[in-house]
Amino acid sequence: MDAMWAVGFGLGFLPLVIWVLRSFNEWRYCYPYLTFKSGRKLPPGHLGWPIIGEWLDFLWCFKFTKRPDDFIWKRIAKYGDTGVYRTHLFGSPTIITCSPEANKFMTGGGTESGSLTAGWPSPQVIGANSIGMVEGPQHKRIRRYLMEAINSPESLKRMFITLQPSIREALKNWALKGTITAFDEVNEVQFSNICRLLFSFQSAPMLKEMRRIYTGLVAGLRAQPINFPGTAFHSALKSRKKLSAMMLSEMHDRRANKSSIKEDFLQNLMDSVDSWNGEKLSDEEIFDNVVSLILAGYASTSLSITWVLYYLAKNPSVLYKLREENRLIREKKGKDERLTYEDTKNMTYTSKVIEEIVRISHVSSFVFRSVAKDTDFNGYIFPKGWKVIIWLRTNHVDPRYFENPLEFKPERWDGPKSKAGAYYAFGSGPRLCPGSNLAKMQLFMFLHLVSNDYKWELENPNFKIKHLPHSMVVDGAKMKFSPI
Ligand code: HEM
Repeated sequence: MDAMWAVGFGLGFLPLVIWVLRSFNEWRYCYPYLTFKSGRKLPPGHLGWPIIGEWLDFLWCFKFTKRPDDFIWKRIAKYGDTGVYRTHLFGSPTIITCSPEANKFMTGGGTESGSLTAGWPSPQVIGANSIGMVEGPQHKRIRRYLMEAINSPESLKRMFITLQPSIREALKNWALKGTITAFDEVNEVQFSNICRLLFSFQSAPMLKEMRRIYTGLVAGLRAQPINFPGTAFHSALKSRKKLSAMMLSEMHDRRANKSSIKEDFLQNLMDSVDSWNGEKLSDEEIFDNVVSLILAGYASTSLSITWVLYYLAKNPSVLYKLREENRLIREKKGKDERLTYEDTKNMTYTSKVIEEIVRISHVSSFVFRSVAKDTDFNGYIFPKGWKVIIWLRTNHVDPRYFENPLEFKPERWDGPKSKAGAYYAFGSGPRLCPGSNLAKMQLFMFLHLVSNDYKWELENPNFKIKHLPHSMVVDGAKMKFSPI
């Protein structure tokens, strides 16, 4: 009798427990805004379970069904096409923005006015002093150094000279191997290129070790910030510690041995003096920015270069046109002459291939902000202290903005530009990616060399795509690679 009573009580009690747990986050974070009296309306949505919020649904879409955009489509179907939804992700109550209008405001006016500040969920991984985290004059200052180092025409011209031989060499090696996992190979060459470009790091064993450590750091970037052995976040923190030791020793060597001082971004940061307080950057500031730049610089370009190889292998008619354009460019040059920055202005088809790969490859699926003061958008309140996730990826594959969006079709860039806010692969506003030109120029160089001299074929053209920590074919785009 006792047992039956216990089962009956348990069955009656369980729904109550579920209801309490399910309502906990809503009561905790939304209560002041859910009463009629408040007169302020939160975006529609739900904050999920205590602590984990809607993380399980996020994992379901990104990891298990491998249909990440369903995370947004489901909310549009359930709550209507409001373009803003409340949720709880990465450990915080959050508003997701995903319509072109909302994303335009969040990256533009909202960020410019200071209502929204930097908001990466894991400052411990990225570094609290890195450009992606700092605000105001400190942000402007670091950004200025960075733009000069990687975005001025002079620096881009220099890059064509510095990087082309190493890309050429890498392609030769791939052909010697015959079969390659493109993502691994591209990662290796891009990692050493960004280190060479910004920090003059050359030693192969050091670069190899650093790349190994960086892989752990990248995995923790968009992970739930739970510092427990075995979690991606925990190993990212460990990776950061190791990098810190390596970088501080490099800085120490440079200071101790004046003759080894190089003209590069690291040295610029070490020498820089603030114009209004006359202070130098601290070692922490330098280290955080070095780490985040390598991270932003190599992971993004490795993904887009791998994807372009993948899509070109699957779209021979696009590859044919690309080859024709690049063959003509080369014919006008001497046999061993390099591609130059000026040449890219005549590579109109190649530039459309680049735009298309950046759209379809979802290198940066979403970016983060924190709400610094209560902000209104379209009649909805964004409460102070909440996070904002500016969801970039879904607009890039929304048929309302791109016809047959899953088709790799560079010709779509012939026509009028897509709706403002719909194509924000590099972001917009005060935090617009400062490396967009650097990334594009690397793609120009790579496409020129690979299309003129090599052919390749995917081993598994129909392999699934994984989406964490980034979108990539599961086999890393394994392919046969040989000279033409
Ligand atoms: C295909 C390649 C790339 C894509 C799609 C991409 C995308 C983005 C996006 C969307 C943002 C905006 C973040 C925001 O609004 O908060 C951003 C910021 C940034 N990117 Fe890139 N990026 C790429 C390549 C690069 C490269 C090559 C570098 C540098 C070497 C770089 C460095 C940065 C930095 C430092 C920021 C932070 C800017 C700030 O907060 O002021 N990116 N990137």
